[in-house]
Amino acid sequence: MELSSLSSSLDRFRASANSFLSQYEPLALLLSPILSLIAAWIIQSFLHTLRDKGLKATLLGFFMNSVKLVPGVRNYIDAEKQKVVNQLQSGSKSKRDGWRTELPKAGLGGEVLEKMKDEKRNDVAWKGKCSGTVFAHTNPLHLDVFQSVVRFEVEVVSMTAALLGGKEKASGGQICGNMTSGGTESILLAVKSSRDFMKAKKGITRPEMIIPVSAHSAYDKAAQYFNIKLWRIPVNKEFLADVGAIKRCISKNTVLIVGSAPGFPHGIIDPIEVCDTEYFELGELAFNAGICFHVDLCLGGFVLPFARKLGIKDIPELFIIGRPDMTIVAFGSTIVNVFEVNDILSTKGWHLNALQRPNSIHLCVTLQHVPVVEDFLKDLRDSVQIVKENPGPISGGLAPIYGAAGKMPDRVMVQELLVDFMDSSC
Ligand SMILES: Cc1ncc(COP(=O)(O)O)c(C=O)c1O
Repeated sequence: MELSSLSSSLDRFRASANSFLSQYEPLALLLSPILSLIAAWIIQSFLHTLRDKGLKATLLGFFMNSVKLVPGVRNYIDAEKQKVVNQLQSGSKSKRDGWRTELPKAGLGGEVLEKMKDEKRNDVAWKGKCSGTVFAHTNPLHLDVFQSVVRFEVEVVSMTAALLGGKEKASGGQICGNMTSGGTESILLAVKSSRDFMKAKKGITRPEMIIPVSAHSAYDKAAQYFNIKLWRIPVNKEFLADVGAIKRCISKNTVLIVGSAPGFPHGIIDPIEVCDTEYFELGELAFNAGICFHVDLCLGGFVLPFARKLGIKDIPELFIIGRPDMTIVAFGSTIVNVFEVNDILSTKGWHLNALQRPNSIHLCVTLQHVPVVEDFLKDLRDSVQIVKENPGPISGGLAPIYGAAGKMPDRVMVQELLVDFMDSSC
């Protein structure tokens, strides 16, 4: 009974709705929801901007953008802007004569330090005369005061660009850069720039980035600092970024994908641009998807252009992870506990890095290791034998903590464990 009264009410509602709508054209009925959605989207964007920038800046921005649509106005504004930039640069242009844009063919030796000191002597006499400004030796924010720092930064950026092919036609010639305090800051800046660029380019306000699990933890830091959703994608069986899996994770909110050359844990170069029969490359993927691509060259940047393979001696109890492309070699073992080997190595004065998935340790080989390669191999061989004969943790060793972290299936627990461990260590 109740069901039939509900159905007759629905029929009456349908009849009156249809009679009301019959006065409109079908096309108008079709278009109105689409137009309403567009209007809602515009209002939502406006409200977002209002919240971000405040009323005055929003109205001014809206006014300026509308004015720029008037033919000729944009060109006029751009020309005026260029005039101001030219004026600001007019003094410094002549000073740039003689600045280096490429590494000299032969190193300058100690002479370079004298040259730098000479350059610094030309800086403004700032002591006692500047407002704040210097907290250590220089402050590159004040480029009018520390001209020498400006020159050094410009030269380093230009020389690095040239080293990496910036002078070749294929580079497109649009290269810029700045000096950072190290790998982490470089990654932070690249991620922030990508986020801001994609917001301006595609209006992405809920940014996401996709990294292989082998990427450096600085990307996790960047995701937290800049409020970006982070997708970590497992590497393939050769420990390379899995391009197919990364592709499947790309969404309309993706601002950035990442590859390393080589990666921090295993020293393996991800498929950046060299096509393989089985894998296609990350660069092409990002280009086709219209998203940013960051290559972490923290380890490879100044080595790859000159790289040659290093010989690695085999120790039967150990296996090398993947095929290291450069100067990082990661190794694990199915015979001994590799973290215990690491602890024994530490007692012999070596400081290597412990890794998970799979449990392993790595050594990043630099110039300092050249004279001690044989010592290292001997100590490694001895440490493996010690653990083989006397397995088990040693007092003060870190093997139990790394072992426990490696076994825990819940990554949140691993994070908590490591945070507690670090908190109690300092
Ligand atoms: C591949 C890679 N990326 C990023 C970093 C972070 O660099 P930094 O320790 O200078 O912040 C490192 C450091 O070893 C690295 O190896």
